[in-house]
Amino acid sequence: SEEGEAGIPGFNFDEIAHGVDETHHVAPGHDADILLRWGDPLFADSPPFDPENQSPAAQLKQFGYNNDFLGLTPLPFGDEESPHALLCVNHEFTNDPLMHRALSEAADPRLAYTPQMARISMAAHGGTIVEVKKTDGKWAPVTDSPFNRRISALKTEMMLDGPAAGHARLKTSADPSGRKVTGTLNNCAGGMTPWGTYLMAEENFHGYFAGSLDEHPEKRNYERVGIPGGFYPWFIADERFDINKEPNEANRFGWIVEVDPYDPASTPVKHTALGRFKHEGCETVLAEDGRVVIYSGDDQRFEYLYKFISAAAVDPGNRRANMNLLSEGTLYVARFAEDGSGEWLPLVFGENGLDASNGFESQADVLIETRRAADILDATPLDRPEDVQPNPKTGRVYAALTNNSKRGEEATDAVNPRAHNIWGQIVEITPEGGDHSARKFTWDLLVKAGNPAKPEIGAAFNEKTSANGWFACPDNLEVDPQGRLWVATDQGKGWPKASGSADGLWALSTEGETRGLGRMFFRVPVGAEMCGPRFTADGEALFLAVQHPGADGAEDYAPHGRPSTYADPATRWPDFDPAMPPRPSIVVITRKGGGKVG
Ligand code: FEO
Ligand code: CA
Ligand code: CA
Ligand code: CA
Repeated sequence: SEEGEAGIPGFNFDEIAHGVDETHHVAPGHDADILLRWGDPLFADSPPFDPENQSPAAQLKQFGYNNDFLGLTPLPFGDEESPHALLCVNHEFTNDPLMHRALSEAADPRLAYTPQMARISMAAHGGTIVEVKKTDGKWAPVTDSPFNRRISALKTEMMLDGPAAGHARLKTSADPSGRKVTGTLNNCAGGMTPWGTYLMAEENFHGYFAGSLDEHPEKRNYERVGIPGGFYPWFIADERFDINKEPNEANRFGWIVEVDPYDPASTPVKHTALGRFKHEGCETVLAEDGRVVIYSGDDQRFEYLYKFISAAAVDPGNRRANMNLLSEGTLYVARFAEDGSGEWLPLVFGENGLDASNGFESQADVLIETRRAADILDATPLDRPEDVQPNPKTGRVYAALTNNSKRGEEATDAVNPRAHNIWGQIVEITPEGGDHSARKFTWDLLVKAGNPAKPEIGAAFNEKTSANGWFACPDNLEVDPQGRLWVATDQGKGWPKASGSADGLWALSTEGETRGLGRMFFRVPVGAEMCGPRFTADGEALFLAVQHPGADGAEDYAPHGRPSTYADPATRWPDFDPAMPPRPSIVVITRKGGGKVG
């Protein structure tokens, strides 16, 4: 089909169609196999999954809930031909009413939520590292691998490092050092480093903290990020989630966490040098001089795009030394000009108003309140920056701005051009001189998402894009080993208005006459979100994460037509077993008979 009317050079698949139903769909000629589901065993002694008899202890030995970011690194490190790899999975959040019958059937779910449910949720958050092995072209988990690990919000000890570590604002009654934290929260997208570590981005951490900001010492800081949140009443199980009992605990979340997947006993490190905000992802690329550049979006309406540049250069022969690279460096925030140019502004204490006149006493203060520091530098508020993906083959960078229904006519600008933007856009950034450490860049909108057949939407794709090649709400991005861009969508509950179709994965051309041409490759079941696209180094397998099947917008889905409950979900994907709730799962795509995917 590559020579077909709406093909993209370098891609070889026939599109699937927009739509929504209870299962997944993949382009013809490919297999989509379920690799791991919520509750699957990860260790030789894992108990079998029993949704009616869950416990925190069982969950800590099983695959966690919603799966977002996926990373892959070969086993052993550096051996790209190996049939063994470590799969790194973020478990972002839990949909508790779809997990627990008792909660789903309660008259008042807030009163029915138990400390045990809170601990199960904490155990289901975090990450999974699991060995996967290829046999005859098909990948499967190795459930007794010594590398397998569950990282959780409940138990995993982590260290803080960098300029804010040990600061008074990070000290708690359980940790007078300000350097030790239990767990990680809301790990959305992430990244893998060239030295084979796994970066977990803490996104909507505000949602876990309850209490009152009246006379609170962190009132200005917490208001800026939306604390108290109200996703889960975890404070009933652990007082540290009550901001009045433990006023600084929430300052210990919102960071980038680095994990060494090759050492299951290693202590994950929260690197404060990369700033504290609702990190969507953290993808790495090297500057010309070998310093590490990490791009990260802050996913909320009117928030900013950041990059971090390490102080030192990577040492290709020394993994251990490279694990200190994210401890020291400079964080920058982006300002986009109307003429297609742009600038990275350094967030450095003592410069440009980031000083005592604005309530900052040190670099630690600048990093703890990264958003407020970026406000002062007059950074450009964006339409919810999600994943940011550098393309190492071209040197260009792609940022998914997922949507922003609240921008309004007054606040539109060239990079956020639509007032009621429920569709999103993808920005292409070209660093000056092709060097990711440059302070200047140029930018262009690659696509404005939404249906181009409806002129009132103001979508912009390549004019040859088919009725299925457009998408809404770009979120996770991936550049495959051939340098091709892939776009995963997350329309949330808004899918009936944004596209009328389920989320999915699209190939998107960035070059030549087909630039801006999309092709639909995969579609998730109703209520799910498409996450984690990640190719193997040979391009012959594509790992996909399908999170919260049945959850979003089930009430707008005929034939279901009502919100999903435990007993009556809109889908029971992927098991379709009346005894099983819908389960977030990892899918592996391979080409029938072998060869490159897509
Ligand atoms: Fe967890 Fe920004 O999506
Ligand atoms: Ca997402
Ligand atoms: Ca990505
Ligand atoms: Ca999203």
